Amino acid sequence: TTFDPVEHRVPMLSLDNAFGEAELLDWDQKIKRRLEISPDDPIEYMAELKIDGLSISLTYENGSLMQAATRGNGVTGENVTPNIRTIKAVPLKLRTAKAKSTSNLFEFNGVPDLIEVRGEVYLRHDEFARINAENEEAGAPTFANPRNAAAGSLRQKDPTKTAKRNLDVFFYAVGALQGWDFQSQGDMLKTYPEWGLRTNPALKVCHDIRGVLEFTEEWVEKKRTLPYDIDGVVVKVNSMALQQQLGFVSRSPRWAIAYKYPAQQVRTVVEDIFVQVGMTGAITPVAALRPVAVAGVMVSRATLHNEDEIARKDIRIGDTVVIQRAGEVIPEVVEVVIAERTGQETAFTMPTNCPSCDTQLVKPEGEAVRRCANDHCPEKVRQRLQHFVSRNAMDIEALGGKRIDQLIDAGLVKNAADLYRLTKDVLTNLDRMGEKLAGNILGAVEASRTRPMKNFIYALAIRHVGEHTADVLAGAFPDIHHLIQATTDELAAIHEIGTTTAESVVQFFQSPQNLEMVEDLLTSVTPASGDSVPKGDAFAGMTFVFTGAMTIYSRDEAEFIVRQQGGKASGSVSKNTSFVVAGEKAGSKLAKAAELGVKVISEEEFREMLPTV
Ligand code: IVH
Repeated sequence: TTFDPVEHRVPMLSLDNAFGEAELLDWDQKIKRRLEISPDDPIEYMAELKIDGLSISLTYENGSLMQAATRGNGVTGENVTPNIRTIKAVPLKLRTAKAKSTSNLFEFNGVPDLIEVRGEVYLRHDEFARINAENEEAGAPTFANPRNAAAGSLRQKDPTKTAKRNLDVFFYAVGALQGWDFQSQGDMLKTYPEWGLRTNPALKVCHDIRGVLEFTEEWVEKKRTLPYDIDGVVVKVNSMALQQQLGFVSRSPRWAIAYKYPAQQVRTVVEDIFVQVGMTGAITPVAALRPVAVAGVMVSRATLHNEDEIARKDIRIGDTVVIQRAGEVIPEVVEVVIAERTGQETAFTMPTNCPSCDTQLVKPEGEAVRRCANDHCPEKVRQRLQHFVSRNAMDIEALGGKRIDQLIDAGLVKNAADLYRLTKDVLTNLDRMGEKLAGNILGAVEASRTRPMKNFIYALAIRHVGEHTADVLAGAFPDIHHLIQATTDELAAIHEIGTTTAESVVQFFQSPQNLEMVEDLLTSVTPASGDSVPKGDAFAGMTFVFTGAMTIYSRDEAEFIVRQQGGKASGSVSKNTSFVVAGEKAGSKLAKAAELGVKVISEEEFREMLPTV
């Protein structure tokens, strides 16, 4: 996706980092030398949280939002106005403040003639989790951290998509400014909310650098309680006059610094970059790192996500990089330490062919991820089998971890159906496999034969069908054969099933290979239907008549569900009928229902009567 370029009136600077207390104290001393202040005299600082999102610049002219831009390279950003306008915390008009500050020269005017307001767009943890769950469900790549998810959400071609992501924003800086003056950072942070611009509540005017250290110490623990990520503390010289005097070097102001909590981020070396093949064929680059402890955990790998991400961060093999563990997720590379470059580093190029089966990879238009489309790809097969036995799928715990690899490597299983053909003799012939272990495996495989339908559907690893969708499908198709034969229209008519998912399901069952595998499986496995709609007595004493063309359920399924809930299904309407469920083009039975005063409901209403899990 490309956006129009926007030149910032005043460049958006970045911040120098200080790792640890000593570097912060050094910075304080350096400032005093520049300002010719005695080393023991205090400088007043503003301490703020460093929000881990992406910076934006909003231009308000006479209080109206005219333009919103990303930071870009600091000089030129991207025009994301329609997207930014969807963020609830972004006012389209500044509230006219009653200026209280006596130092304010422009009290007659409530807002500046022009202001570039700068701040951070971010995602809360709960939203991040929701979006990732949604993507996982859709078989789309998930985001490594909330910051990437925020960036991805903001940079949508279609702003209505951005609107659904519930982005948030905190404002903390100013670019161009006409017809107004701020005396200090504190003055600005006090004024912004009066204009309706959201600021972070955690801020502290510090009498000197010691006060800043107290703030950083206070937040080292407290940051865990925040509903969003911060990656440090930003320290700013409070007085705007002093800020002016200090100016900036290259791309960073001298008057501000980012204090990074030392334990979370560490440096290490990218020893290699390799790619992984996922069960849907998605190719993910991964960095092999020189092992290092991050927040008490040894880390030797970091996901690099996709090639765009590698290019954006310019990560090369041999680079010294800053890595971090964001929350409890997989570690990621934050940035390359350019100063450590020797010239010996080598750029990584994405393979054009699958590292496992050598098939040429495909990269669908508009997608960031290359895929291996070969259904026989050994690595895909291995991943699919691992998925099949995993807890939320068929839950064959005895085959978890590396054990399934052993069976694959020995040529005993090529697909899921093979699992059900294993015998004690075959298993005990394997290395390090005694009677007992073989017995455990066979028992676990046996027990999986009657897993609920939703687990079975999920276990098939159909693209775009995650756990939740599998559950929805299981509810709609108690008979798996109806799912296999369902058309895109039928599927898409189901609540919560979109066209992409519907097409993906149809495509899956259209493949003769998949069909053969599923049929083969079904000779061994009898998924227990109706797990999403547990057996119960919701319809005890009731009689249902189904009429017309049904879209959500087949008539068999609907009648099956009624019986499962203790009700009766009948073919004709009588005074004993409790409900007539009318599909499209329902005919004479409707008239009969009207005549007898029997309640007529839609298929949707029928579904709503079902108990939910
Ligand atoms: S001030 C010239 N304040 O950190 C000062 N930045 O590493 C410009 N950030 O690009 C930024 N929270 O995206 C400032 N309270 C805060 C911040 C903050 C997060 C981000 C911002 C900036 C980056 C620099």
